Amino acid sequence: MKNNKIIKGFSKLSKEAKIEWITKEYLNDEKEYVNLLKSYWHEDPKVQKIHDEFIENTITNFYIPFGIAPNFLINDKVYCVPMAIEESSVVAAASKNASFWMERGGFKSTVISTTKIGHVHFAWYGEYEILKNFINSIKQKFFDETKQITKNMNERGGGILEIELINRADLEPNYYQLQAKFETCDAMGANFINSLLEKFSKILTREISKSNLSENDKKIVIIMCILSNYTPECIVRCEVNCRIEELSNDPNIDNEEFAKKFEQAIHVANIEPYRATTHNKGIFNGIDAVVIATGNDFRAVEACGHTYASRSGQYRSLSNVEIKDGKFRFWIDLPISVGTVGGLTTLHPMVRFSYKLLANPNSKNLMKIIAAVGLAQNFGAIRSLVTTGIQKGHMKMHLLNILNQLGADQNEVEKTKEYFKDKVVEHSAVVNYFKELRNVSN
Ligand code: MEV
Repeated sequence: MKNNKIIKGFSKLSKEAKIEWITKEYLNDEKEYVNLLKSYWHEDPKVQKIHDEFIENTITNFYIPFGIAPNFLINDKVYCVPMAIEESSVVAAASKNASFWMERGGFKSTVISTTKIGHVHFAWYGEYEILKNFINSIKQKFFDETKQITKNMNERGGGILEIELINRADLEPNYYQLQAKFETCDAMGANFINSLLEKFSKILTREISKSNLSENDKKIVIIMCILSNYTPECIVRCEVNCRIEELSNDPNIDNEEFAKKFEQAIHVANIEPYRATTHNKGIFNGIDAVVIATGNDFRAVEACGHTYASRSGQYRSLSNVEIKDGKFRFWIDLPISVGTVGGLTTLHPMVRFSYKLLANPNSKNLMKIIAAVGLAQNFGAIRSLVTTGIQKGHMKMHLLNILNQLGADQNEVEKTKEYFKDKVVEHSAVVNYFKELRNVSN
């Protein structure tokens, strides 16, 4: 079949040739697309090369805004937090709520644990007890024969913490895991863990084959070796608290009533997965933005958080509230596995900037900062939802986006903002008002 839209060896083409090919075959050869793609290249070829090499088949860069949320008081230290995110209102909410809590003692973050985990998943066909005894008899070899890999990590205070056989044959016949736990210090640790797991699987296969187990018991199938992004033993807790009478800086809000509604909102997110999903999504608005700005893997952090939110068997709120003895306490426990060394941390110039801005935190401090931003975001969202509603703030940004699309100048922006101060920001209404404004002023 001859089809010009299919190509072999795309990855081998130069960047220019890639652009030329997609433009010709998919974009009617319209040169404006070539110009568009090239206009997003960095002007310094050396910087562009760094970005080109992060992934494969790069043809250009895709910008998302990089904003700053100042005034985050976390454990008595003030941070200006970098956030990379495309959604309007998120950075504004983080900043607003950071300042709000700064005046009430700030965020208190504590790292509770930092253990990472991974598995060799395998099938084995004998009696569980035999396997258990066998694994125990060879366990030391997993530690001894991986010293090359663990040497540097051991020197930094990390390494393999424990190795254990897990019987999962109740879920799937003959299915077992060699489960290993790790301390990876300031590294996220994916390469370290995966290299070790692959080595463990080789040791296990070799030892079984040269053992004096029966022929049936010598049969082992390694299914796969991989770290788990679910790290329920890598937890940070972040908390804010104040007296109920300090809870609002808005004279239109009754503090007792607000506290009660806030509590109800958290309760709803605990019992109703439809709400819990949106509630936690709002938390991840803040978390992901910092995770991206610091060069970490936001898919891993998200996946982990959502599994953790389901640990009771039902998907629930990640945040908690307690109203007791006139005091409002709001906190979040989050599994966050991030690294401050390796990966993008030294490669991406903007990631390097983020670390500089945060005074080069180690991974524990970064966990604390990320949790504080997630909590601030959630507080802001719930406060808006149970008081003014979420659209008020969103609509301000929406109005600006519409005006930007229309090419409004500063004077037109101010006039339109004033006009819509007490009106619903609806797209066609804004366009009509803007047209009238232009007609009048032309
Ligand atoms: C929007 O991106 C996030 C919120 O929907 C979160 C929430 O409802 O809690 C505002």
